[in-house]
Amino acid sequence: MIDIVCGGQAGDEGKGKISAYLSYKGSYDYCVRVGGPNAGHTVVKDGKSYTLKNIPSGFLNPKTKLVLGAGAYTKTKWLLDEVNFTGTRDRLIIDPYAVLISDEQTAAEKNAAHFMQHIGSVGTGLGQAVRDRIERRDIKFAKDEPLLKDFIQDVPELLNKSLDNGGHILLEGTQGIKLSLMHGEYPFVTSRDTTASTFLGEAGLGPKSVRDVYVVFKPYITRVGPGPLEHEMTDEKELEIYHTKGHEIGSVSKRLRRIGAFEKRSASRAIMINNCTKIAITHIDMFVGNDRVKRYEDFTPEAKAFLDDLRKLSAEVYPHPEISVISTGPDMEDTLVL
Ligand code: IMP
Ligand code: MG
Repeated sequence: MIDIVCGGQAGDEGKGKISAYLSYKGSYDYCVRVGGPNAGHTVVKDGKSYTLKNIPSGFLNPKTKLVLGAGAYTKTKWLLDEVNFTGTRDRLIIDPYAVLISDEQTAAEKNAAHFMQHIGSVGTGLGQAVRDRIERRDIKFAKDEPLLKDFIQDVPELLNKSLDNGGHILLEGTQGIKLSLMHGEYPFVTSRDTTASTFLGEAGLGPKSVRDVYVVFKPYITRVGPGPLEHEMTDEKELEIYHTKGHEIGSVSKRLRRIGAFEKRSASRAIMINNCTKIAITHIDMFVGNDRVKRYEDFTPEAKAFLDDLRKLSAEVYPHPEISVISTGPDMEDTLVL
């Protein structure tokens, strides 16, 4: 069976942390990542922090094989650096049709005011690579790169055979619903859809074997680029707390993230469109007094009120997911399962 992790807001909800936790505690045979290197997933274990542009956050479990699907985009150097940094050379598998972003594509994106100023692109070249792929230009796939030869396997075949034999797969999505090319706040969106069904398609998986869809939310929303944000915070003192304690600085872009209030409408859409069965909340410790809380009973009234409101909202949206995982601090171990 397959579990999927999706972003319920504008990216940076903590999908990396939740995927790392699920995969460390669970028994997934494969952890699969799709999407591009504009999305940095951060994992902290025993005080050591890893920001990953491509390697799936499940890498901390040595028994889990790591997979990049055909819908993954990377650059050879970034990927190999990450492989070395995480020590995962012996268990990485790459689809032949994952795309390698060229330096020309990165330069084209960085030099285009349309991408960089109007949309606020991260500047990795992902958008340009997607555009070239859609235009059926001569792009470079993973299968064309001699340095990646040892990693190449037929990913759809491998994963579907595993499912047939009772295997468990964690599919780690990227970004969030507000950034979806289909369901987000066009034009302030990324170059692809960012919902569960698309993640499946990008990995070469179908919908029948899905067990749970986790959608990750913070009690507030951040955005690194332009685009709508309800009740955007402007008080500098307050913002600074988010940027320091909350680490709300772009993990790839290094830009200070804008902060807005929790948005009920986009949360409902995220639950509905992803077919969410389990809600994961991160950054609950941004409510004062909830750092590393170990039991639900010990949350402050403010944190509990937020969770109660979210339960009410969820009760009204199909498929009525439960709040299932709550993160109370950056480290993987600072996590509560209800
Ligand atoms: P692009 O995908 O790099 O073209 O960026 C399009 C918009 O999505 C910009 O506002 C980016 O800041 C935002 N964006 C893209 N990827 C991420 C992410 O992983 N986290 C947060 N924002 C992102
Ligand atoms: Mg991120």
